Amino acid sequence: MNQHARLEEKAIPFIDVAAQRRRLGHAIDDAISRVLSHCQFVQGPEVRALETELAAFCGARHAIGCASGTDALLLVLMAWEIGPGDAVICPSFTYHATAEMVALLGATPVIADVQAATFNLDPESFERAVATAKARGLKPRAVIPVDLFGLPADLDAIGAIAAAHGMLVLDDAAQGFGATYRGSKLGALATATATSFFPAKPLGCYGDGGAVFTDDDALAARVKSLRVHGEGIDKYEAARIGITGRLDTIQAAVLLQKLKIFPDEIVARGQVAERYAAGLADVATVPRVGNESTSVWAQYTIRLAPGRRDALAAALKSHGIPTAIYYAKPLHRQPAYRGFPVANGGVPVSERLAGEVISLPMHAYLDPPVQDRIIDAVRRALGS
Ligand SMILES: Cc1ncc(COP(=O)(O)O)c(C=O)c1O
Repeated sequence: MNQHARLEEKAIPFIDVAAQRRRLGHAIDDAISRVLSHCQFVQGPEVRALETELAAFCGARHAIGCASGTDALLLVLMAWEIGPGDAVICPSFTYHATAEMVALLGATPVIADVQAATFNLDPESFERAVATAKARGLKPRAVIPVDLFGLPADLDAIGAIAAAHGMLVLDDAAQGFGATYRGSKLGALATATATSFFPAKPLGCYGDGGAVFTDDDALAARVKSLRVHGEGIDKYEAARIGITGRLDTIQAAVLLQKLKIFPDEIVARGQVAERYAAGLADVATVPRVGNESTSVWAQYTIRLAPGRRDALAAALKSHGIPTAIYYAKPLHRQPAYRGFPVANGGVPVSERLAGEVISLPMHAYLDPPVQDRIIDAVRRALGS
């Protein structure tokens, strides 16, 4: 059997967590063993070490480990005392966790549209969403731009509109941590930034985890208190109502090891994206990153003419190549969010994208021969 035939037989993973595990080898086992020896499973020394390294990595004054990306969003919203009567603007084309904690706190997510070229919050629609919120008697308090698929949102334009309306910016960098916008890394660019360390994320742990980043000392102090039951002068004083929202020490130990190879992996992800663009730009709309940003390519998402992607997914599946649709149902069409207001002018771009997008395997360990197999299969399925 020649090498090509052997490659043809193997199913390709969508994200190869095992390849990274092999690369890290004993470093991870040893790091976990150290936690098993010192037994400080909650708020152990690895958590503080990770927070220091994460802050240095992205240039934020504070990095605060959290139990998940969702908790990171929640803790910031709680610290800002977002609640009933408040509006928080969220893009429609996102994973619904972006808006979930807004609704959980009794505030109103007001749903805005995105830009087709970036998949990210459209500043003009954001502005219209603020007007929509006001027309409904809501107080626009914050906006949550999302760095979807790893590409930073237009944080300067969004920040300027937010400032003009006295609103706070919480960047949802669950998919974008490690990416840059105008020369700075996400984490240091908004009033607050939340990220997720879910295993499938560009920087993922071996369970759930997340972090909040901010330069605001008062906000950092509140988030730290809220993540430990609203602790005050010590853990037995309840200064405020909080949650159990801490990052586990074992996850911090894993992340400390993974952070060492993260810059390398970001470069490798970029190379995979470039190879896809070179191989597919003439048969599909491939994502383009402008000069102002870099992406960490949490997903590699192409766009096809409506009605074509099911056939592509089926053809790829028959060759052992997985695909995913992020997101077939944008926020405004999710059963749990249908009742929330949509910005004046609607969300036509999110509607359209939901019918056009399909994501291909993307990770730092996608070797050129395997990627060529994917590219060839996509080209054949699209009839070129
Ligand atoms: C855009 C976005 N926001 C928030 C989250 C929530 O993160 P977590 O799953 O760590 O709670 C995710 C991850 O799934 C996400 O993709």
